[in-house]
Amino acid sequence: MTILVTGGLGYIGSHTVVELLNNHFDVVIVDDLSNSEKFILDNIEEVTGKSPVYYPFDLKRRELLTQLLDAHKIDGCINFAAFKAVGESQVIPLDYYENNLFSLINILQEFKTRNISNFIFSSSCTVYGQADEMPIDENTPLKEAESSYGKTKQMGESILKDFATAYHKKVSLLRYFNPIGAHPSAKLGELPIGVPNNLIPYVTQTAAGIREKLSIWGDDYPTPDGTAIRDYIYVVDLAKAHVAALKKLINDPSETVIDIFNLGTGKGSSVLEVVHAFENANQVSVPYQICERRAGDITIAYANADKAEKELGWKADTSLEEALRTTWEWQQYLESRN
Ligand code: UD1
Repeated sequence: MTILVTGGLGYIGSHTVVELLNNHFDVVIVDDLSNSEKFILDNIEEVTGKSPVYYPFDLKRRELLTQLLDAHKIDGCINFAAFKAVGESQVIPLDYYENNLFSLINILQEFKTRNISNFIFSSSCTVYGQADEMPIDENTPLKEAESSYGKTKQMGESILKDFATAYHKKVSLLRYFNPIGAHPSAKLGELPIGVPNNLIPYVTQTAAGIREKLSIWGDDYPTPDGTAIRDYIYVVDLAKAHVAALKKLINDPSETVIDIFNLGTGKGSSVLEVVHAFENANQVSVPYQICERRAGDITIAYANADKAEKELGWKADTSLEEALRTTWEWQQYLESRN
């Protein structure tokens, strides 16, 4: 089967392409390189020994998508192509709505016309906001997202539910918790652009001496050590969940399927625990200072991932330390390229 992977050269997308190829799927990648670089494609080929087809265009260009679908018989899509910076989405919200939703609708229109099913959507635990109870399962009520980025994820989910219902299609909405780490080959990982906003890239760059000090945003949260708690999931485990979710859709005999899965480890770690785990795993030090809370941050979020285990036979089993070790190896690789 041939799977269209949009954003297939991005952080989670590239790891998922590797897992798809390892599972004998053919892959067609569309990625406009707005948040990646061409060498990631070379590295995917090096890691897998296979060459996925690659198109460098923006999915808002419907006519280019039409040409692609005329040229390849596509059996499903994993859609990673989206802007994802929370802070930026508050400054340029229209660009977020336009980019994340127009590209999604273009693909769905083509899938409807061509009668293609099996669509996997990258969603986020951000759709839950600050949930009232932990852990968060798939029935936890959604709260209105705080950021325009988060709203594009909520809207994307709604669009896909309507698409599946009206046109009898199979879709899977995957709500990621906090993805971290890099490929064990150290050839694929998150490419930081500018000053990182997310915790792990900032910790990594601080350990590498690129940043002077990590700012820990708040130590007065109602948690055991006062710092906020998240569920950090290893990116290769996350990539494998996509293959499992895809296989479930393909094998599901129903005409209409709307799957929703939380993808996390089920374990929460505080910011300080992450910093110390990074130091222990890599025998490096991460200088830090405690600062005020960051606006919009929640106190705690971790998954109940039982549904994915039960229905997909999938579980995130890589430890935090192991994931953080791969992050550091990826950092060494990036430095060796400069
Ligand atoms: C953020 C987004 C979320 C998105 C996810 C993608 C917000 C409010 N949420 O999640 O919607 O899906 O990224 O990965 O932005 N921290 C520090 N110092 C830093 C950076 C982070 O102390 O320099 C803390 C944060 O306050 C937070 C934790 O580390 O408690 C994790 O932060 P981050 O990696 O940015 O992820 P989220 O905020 O959970």
